[in-house]
Amino acid sequence: NQLPRIREECEVLHLSEKQCREIMSRLHNDLVKGLGKDSHANSIVKCWITYIQDLPNGKERGKFLALDLGGTNFRVLIINLGENHFDMQSKIYAIPNHIMTGTGIALFDHIAECLANFMKEHDVYEERLALGFTFSFPLKQLGLTKGILQRWTKGFSCSGVVGEDVVQGLKDAIARRGDLALSVMGILNDATGTLLSCAHKNPHCRIGIIIGSTGLIDRSYSISIRNAASSCLGTQDVQIDICAILNDTTGTLMSCAWKNHNCKIGLIVGTGSNACYVEKTENCELFDGEPGKSELLINTEWGAFGDDGTLDFIRTEFDRDVDNNSINPGKQIQEKMISGMYMGELVRLALVKFTRMGLLFGGRGSDMLYERGSFYTKYVSEIESDKPGDYTSCMEVLEELGLSHATEADMAGVRHVCECVSRRAAYLVSAGIATLLNKMAEPRVTVGIDGSVYRFHPHFHALMCERITQLVRPGIQFDLMLSEDGSGRGAALVAAVACRQREA
Ligand code: BG6
Ligand code: GLC
Repeated sequence: NQLPRIREECEVLHLSEKQCREIMSRLHNDLVKGLGKDSHANSIVKCWITYIQDLPNGKERGKFLALDLGGTNFRVLIINLGENHFDMQSKIYAIPNHIMTGTGIALFDHIAECLANFMKEHDVYEERLALGFTFSFPLKQLGLTKGILQRWTKGFSCSGVVGEDVVQGLKDAIARRGDLALSVMGILNDATGTLLSCAHKNPHCRIGIIIGSTGLIDRSYSISIRNAASSCLGTQDVQIDICAILNDTTGTLMSCAWKNHNCKIGLIVGTGSNACYVEKTENCELFDGEPGKSELLINTEWGAFGDDGTLDFIRTEFDRDVDNNSINPGKQIQEKMISGMYMGELVRLALVKFTRMGLLFGGRGSDMLYERGSFYTKYVSEIESDKPGDYTSCMEVLEELGLSHATEADMAGVRHVCECVSRRAAYLVSAGIATLLNKMAEPRVTVGIDGSVYRFHPHFHALMCERITQLVRPGIQFDLMLSEDGSGRGAALVAAVACRQREA
């Protein structure tokens, strides 16, 4: 039985309470840097300002569209907010791999197409609806409807979007389609259209001429005329009103705060990991929005914690391997130690090492085991869901991986590796949440949580409760609340608040 050796080897994955406290102190420093005017430019944990200052008050009403991009699924939703109740319908659309790594234009065209199809199916094609866009990537927000993408994370890497306003990207795609964009702005002669179209690019254009006509207007030409006319005439050319762009942590916080007014932290432990929280406006030195409100939501983007080496003291060879073989080496270091996109691979790398050392499977692996990405994070949850001494799910997983020669001792070893990797993730998240709770220094805060790892892992919740309790200052209490309905309702709530403010 090689279990004692495997346990010894796994010690590197153990995070002591002392190490957690060290992580907390480093994260606290990074959060303060992110919030500070002079330190922000060189900060790692960016603490982006969200421009959301009002939590839901229950008075939000109306019908909203929402887009939810960046988690496991891309969803389009329609949400009806009423008094103490809401009604939500949604559809999941696939984002094929070639789109995730293709051009930004193709990505936004795809989103606009899904949106159009959804609106047709729900018979709201002709209505002018407000839309909240949950876009779960790091954005430098310049307002509620303007967000500049800082970097892609998780599996996305579309060209031409970093440094650009994502809301504009979506608006352009809607305009390119033409169908969603048609609101009548006036009728014009083709020569007038030509003039407007040229004037859009060249303000000196004063004469428009049409020579000959086939009777057909090329689609891109008609779109350019419409765009030109709309900008010259100052008219809105989209029926969809993108009222807000937000992060999934923010959507989760808002969604949970609708039910629980103590909810002041939003956490995702899913494909990626991140948290947002309610900060005092006076601490947000970069805030340039509406003065007078005492609180502001901050999107920490803590997935990037460690990108400057801060977490090297706890990183293992498995973490370095995952990072080196990712599409963004050196970036999102903490996220790569925690989230669903990487957890299974961390386990696989440890299993490969122990097999090569002869500690597992009699030293005999399988082609699947040696293949990158073959050990899904859901396997970790499944294996740990087996009762102690029972290895039913573990056996199924190992069979899928072509390891049916595994003995019971091997299965105990595999389970131990899963436990060490997931426990470390839960402790890292706990250190992060405890840092925020201590910083906020409120007597009782609810943490709204979403994401497949937290939702499906059998012990993640319990591990977090235990570790956070150890790490928070005496007198601080907390509750961990699973977000039942995703971040869609949160997006609708933010859109509702934004519309209310705009109308006021
Ligand atoms: C969903 C939310 O429920 O969870 C998304 O609606 C979020 O906004 C997602 O991104 C996170 O979890 P995962 O596991 O899908 O990445
Ligand atoms: C990544 C994104 C972040 C998001 C998180 C969870 O870390 O950068 O914006 O909140 O994943 O989806």
